[in-house]
Amino acid sequence: MAAQIGSEMHERASQIGLTFAEHIAYLERAFPDATGEFSALMQEIMVAGKIISGKVRRAGLVLEMGRTGRVNVQGEEVQYLDEFSNETLVRMTTPGGQLCILASEESAEPIEVPPPYAHGRYAMAFDPLDGSSNIEVNVATGTIFSVHRRRSVDGPGTLQDLLQPGRDLVAAGYLIYGSSTMLVYAARQCGVFGFTLDPSIGEFLLSHPNLRIPENGGIYSVNEGHTDEWDDRDRGIVRAFRSRANPSGRALNARYVGSLVTDFHRNLLQGGIYLYPATASHPDGKLRLLYEAAPLGFLCEAAGGLATTGTTRIAEVTPEVLHQRVPLFIGSRREVAFVESVYQNEWPESST
Ligand code: AHG
Ligand code: MN
Ligand code: MN
Repeated sequence: MAAQIGSEMHERASQIGLTFAEHIAYLERAFPDATGEFSALMQEIMVAGKIISGKVRRAGLVLEMGRTGRVNVQGEEVQYLDEFSNETLVRMTTPGGQLCILASEESAEPIEVPPPYAHGRYAMAFDPLDGSSNIEVNVATGTIFSVHRRRSVDGPGTLQDLLQPGRDLVAAGYLIYGSSTMLVYAARQCGVFGFTLDPSIGEFLLSHPNLRIPENGGIYSVNEGHTDEWDDRDRGIVRAFRSRANPSGRALNARYVGSLVTDFHRNLLQGGIYLYPATASHPDGKLRLLYEAAPLGFLCEAAGGLATTGTTRIAEVTPEVLHQRVPLFIGSRREVAFVESVYQNEWPESST
């Protein structure tokens, strides 16, 4: 789905150094039917990202790290910054009238657009702060978002507006709060664009136009502490990446931060595969379809990569419940295709 629109406006939107607002304005003009609602929503997400980034950067100074004492629907401890990020995203994206309903990792039920705000044509799901358990040790975190067009006709959105497969996404992306803050997003027919926040002017500037993931990756990223919890097939796959028994013919480098956005972002730029297979404690996988696997899968495919559960393309999985989990293998085409071939018994068992 890379850069298909191929118009003059798309070329203008791809110039390095453009502000996010300029970029979105050019792209909007490539679509004569655009109403401006999508552009407005993307700008709201961008502003929320700036606010969260500022808070994350100052967290150590103002003692705003740490746990709230509450546990979320996933049974995980809620960090102060999880809550702040959640509230910021809701506050920035509901007044504008582009959304009809939202879903968040930090909210058991869908989040309604509160009165007096209008209900718009999009449904958004998000992970407000991914990797938040790393925040106290200064490791990069991120925000993941996905946008679907609503299915219901008008008025408040419904659960069905959120429970849509990744193949129907309009756009998805993430912010990463790392050594710099970046916003990376993919929109249907437009490809993948990465922006870097210039702190001296407080603007996201286009730094990575038309991003493509290397076709062959040299990195595998997995929590090998869970090895005993995997089944033999997944153990065999990871062993193959560690040894020469994979399509590259050499052992890959291991890199695992434990913050999905960060691990994914590195592999997107450098080439590699991220794996989170099913485990004994998480038999359906740990990562959540709606606001982790599906948006990153959409973006990865738009950049030329692949994303699968092992047996099914992530984009083809229709969620049945809001916080559904899936096994995830995502990244460079060659490495993910290898996983698929092992799952289809096409790779000789003796090799893995
Ligand atoms: P979150 O911080 O949003 O709850 O997500 C945590 C996820 C993801 O960021 C990371 O890749 C994964 O959990 C790490 O899990 P393990 O500790 O089992 O490796
Ligand atoms: Mn997460
Ligand atoms: Mn989170």
